Amino acid sequence: MTIEVFKRQAGDYAAAMVKSDSVIGLGSGSTARYATLRIGERLRSGVIQNVMGVPTSEDTARLGREAGIPLTTLEEHPALDLTIDGADEVDPQWDVTKGLGGCLLREKVVAYATRFEIIVVDESKLVAHLGQRSPIPVEVLQFGWQNTLRGLEKTGARPVLRRQGDTPFVTDEGNWILDCHYASIPDAGVLGRQIKEIPGVVEHGLFLGMVHQVIVAGANGVRVLERK
Ligand code: A5P
Repeated sequence: MTIEVFKRQAGDYAAAMVKSDSVIGLGSGSTARYATLRIGERLRSGVIQNVMGVPTSEDTARLGREAGIPLTTLEEHPALDLTIDGADEVDPQWDVTKGLGGCLLREKVVAYATRFEIIVVDESKLVAHLGQRSPIPVEVLQFGWQNTLRGLEKTGARPVLRRQGDTPFVTDEGNWILDCHYASIPDAGVLGRQIKEIPGVVEHGLFLGMVHQVIVAGANGVRVLERK
């Protein structure tokens, strides 16, 4: 079986947890996409009713509309029942790295608003330590970004400006992303606080203590992780 099959299995499993009469966060990325599609199917077939979604990106908003999920906002619904989102890395404490898809800012705002954050991944995303498999994406203002980059270097990072073709990648909020490579991250909490103190940093992709359940699909099927 391919990784794409695992992603779909994880997304479908999480989508089955969505109940009628709920307001949910719709994650971004190729794994969360499967959850959004399946929630749309369940709504259209009448298995669940009266579900509204807050999308974590413009791409997900388009997908949600196409799937027939009524969209809403955090202004109208400040507290969400659950959110299903993907991740780039998951460690044994369920701390995760997000943002390789470029949507970490809205994803974190939505995660902060949700009562139950579900992360869906294929097993290749499981790591012993954050930063092992993925850089830490940091969303920064365009204004003065080189100074922000120098600030990030002082945290031990090798930051690389994310590009899309010949130009910098621009997030849904009009910012840029510096992908920060670290040789090791001894304490993600300390690092997250150091990064947030740098002027020009809008948000980083370390989601610490924000996850309530992790659903992993792999060669041995789908499992709900036990927290270690
Ligand atoms: C989007 O910015 C990201 O946080 C994604 O949730 C994350 O990169 C996982 O994406 P995939 O499911 O496509 O690997």
